[in-house]
This record gives sequence, structure tokens and C-alpha cells, in this order.
Amino acid sequence: MHPILTWTAADGTPHQAAWRSLAGHPAPERLLLADDRLGADAALRAVESGTGLLWQGDYLNARHLLQAMSRRLEARLQRPGAQPAGQGPAEAFARHRALQGERARLLGRLLLRLDADHQLGLPRAPDVADAAREAHGPVDGPWITSLRELLGLIGAHEWRKKGVPVPALGRKALVHPHYGVFSPVRGEYVQLVAEAPLPAIVHGAGAFDIGTGTGVLAAVLAQRKLRVTATDNQPAALACAAENLAQLKLDKRVTLLQADLFPPGHAGLIVCNPPWVPATPASPLESAVYDPDSRMLRGFLAGLAAHLSRGGEGWLILSDLAEHLGLRSRAELLGWIEAGGLCVIDRIDTKPVHPKSRDAGDPLAIARAQELTSLWRLGHRPKG
Ligand SMILES: C[S@@+](CC[C@H](N)C(=O)[O-])C[C@H]1O[C@@H](n2cnc3c(N)ncnc32)[C@H](O)[C@@H]1O
Repeated sequence: MHPILTWTAADGTPHQAAWRSLAGHPAPERLLLADDRLGADAALRAVESGTGLLWQGDYLNARHLLQAMSRRLEARLQRPGAQPAGQGPAEAFARHRALQGERARLLGRLLLRLDADHQLGLPRAPDVADAAREAHGPVDGPWITSLRELLGLIGAHEWRKKGVPVPALGRKALVHPHYGVFSPVRGEYVQLVAEAPLPAIVHGAGAFDIGTGTGVLAAVLAQRKLRVTATDNQPAALACAAENLAQLKLDKRVTLLQADLFPPGHAGLIVCNPPWVPATPASPLESAVYDPDSRMLRGFLAGLAAHLSRGGEGWLILSDLAEHLGLRSRAELLGWIEAGGLCVIDRIDTKPVHPKSRDAGDPLAIARAQELTSLWRLGHRPKG
């Protein structure tokens, strides 16, 4: 159910609209009407007291206000003494996440109203109907969301339209991520799956892709002439994978299935690229990266041996970012592999290419400079 927000317009007419936040932000405690006259300092004071600012002015001015509020919050963090000294990477990461969450909460209180046709009706507002419909589907009345979240929907819509190049699938091949589905923008790991040597038995035994997302790894395996069963526990991911596989003309070789981890049966190759940071996601959108207690990773390693045909291989794609952040140790990972009745056949490493971070104090940026992504080739541990 979407909470209903009410307010009175300047001419005294009462209004109401449903609160919608795909990022899972709670509805504001109260609403204040705001327009082009509002400055960033006053806006920050209002949102810090739990008030949502419902924008009535020019759309581009709302964007400028959001940027100004963001700059002020950033400046507070840069003040001398704002960053405690002597923290280990895990504490610094936890603090960084908490500050990011607080920032998202405050900036997420600059709000816009859309009508039932997903139109903004503000001066200089773009047409956001397709972006909003892709993420929210049809709605039955006016609704309110944050400008920040709406900008995210617009960005996701542009990525979906334009597509993400996947050179491993061909020179002009594109994958179109849907809203909220993990996007293979950092494509190095896809290349690893395209190039790693296939186990000899795989052509008879078929392959599984666990947590298929956009379907990109299932597509790579299908292009390597394998029959693939691909699972995901998110219906949105399966719909996205179905569209991508059809557009790449690889859908005949791939069966999609909603499942918690493995489909029934065995396969000669089982590939999985689980979320790689053991931390609580701040919103459902982050759950492809953050996974509390490495649930998917541990589930994959615990169940792999039972689903692998004799002579088959499990390919685990995993970044070691969590190790650099002090959130998981290499010994823990090797322990889970051993406890799963598995052995490491080989490990193929690649260095992810990151956009340069502007924030030298960001513990993620420091850890990313050292990060490696690996394809772990796992097999049944020999008995005895
Ligand atoms: C990091 S993304 C990888 C997506 C895709 N395989 C890729 O490499 O681009 C992890 C995916 O696993 C899915 N997932 C998470 N937990 C799952 C589970 N228990 N069973 C099946 N899929 C799961 C998520 O929905 C997400 O699509």
C-alpha cells in the first residue's frame, strides 16, 4: 500500500497523492510547498526537520536547488575533524555507508508530484512518462516521489534505450538493462566467462547461470553453443533477460526459471556472479552488490557440488573488494569452498576498470584501486 500525502494549495484547495519510493524511503512526516524563491540553506533546514518540500516551481530550478543542497552536504563532510582518524577499513566503510544513507535521505525530501499519466506539469519539465512507467507501471492516481529518485529513473530509462555494449557477445552487441536489474557496465567479468576453457563434459551436460540479471552470462554461454538454464529470484530480472536473449537471437538455447539459486537437476558448468559486498543494501536497488552475510555466495558454494555433473566445473565470479574493505577474509572464502566439498582448479584474475573517483577519502575508492575480479574454476574435491 502506498501512504497518502495531503496538502492545501495556495488558493486553499485540498489535494492528495500517493507516496511512491522504489528506493524504499519512508513518506515525509509533513509537506511544505516550495518554489523558485527557496534557497539551499533554508531547504536543508526544512528537510533536516523531516519536512518534504513539494516543488511547485520551475523544474530546472528544482534540479539546481538539489545540486546546491548536495554541495552544502559535501562541504560539511570536508570540514576539518569531520572524518575521524585512525579507523580501520571496515569502520571507515560503515561510516561512509551511513553518511551516504543520511545524504540520500535528506536529498530525497525534495519532492515532485506526477499525475496519473506520469506527467509533471511544471515549467521546463521533460517528458518523464516512459521512464516512470517502466519503473512503476500504470498507476491509478497522482503520486509523489523525490526528484532524486526521478532522476535515477530517467538515467535508467536512457541506459535501457541506449543499451550497454558487450564486446564479448560481438562488436555491436548490446544488452538493455531494465530498471533495478544489475547492469554489466563493468564488462571485464563477462570477458572472463567468454574466454575461460570449457570443461570437456559440458556439451552433453548443459550449463546453469545462477542469478542471471540481464541474462548477459547466459547469452555468453549460449553463444559458446551451450544449452543453458538461467535462474533469478527477481521476476523483473527474468523479464529483462527474456527480452535481451530474444533480441540477441539466443533465446532458443536458454530456459529461464524463477528460483532461489539452483534449478532442479545437474549441469556440467554452473556459473554465478553473486553480489560481492557483505553488507546490508540501503535500498532494493543495491541488492545486486550488497548481500548481508554473503548469503548468495555461501548458498552457491554450499549447493554447487550437489548440482554439478561428474567432471563438471562451477565458475564463481567474485571481486575481492570485500577483502580490501576488511568485510570478508580470503580464509573465510576458502573455508566455504572446502566445506562445500569443492576444490579450486584454477583462478583467472582481471583488473576492473573504474571511473576515477573524485573522493580520495572514500574508503571504497581506496579499496577499488587494489580490487581484482576473479573467475574461480571449482570442481568436486577428490575423495581421500
Ligand atoms: C551481481 S547480479 C549478477 C547478474 C548477472 N549474472 C551478471 O553477471 O551481470 C546478481 C543477481 O543474482 C540475483 N539473485 C540474488 N539472490 C538470488 C537467489 N537467491 N537466487 C537467484 N538469484 C538471485 C539478483 O537478482 C541479481 O540479478
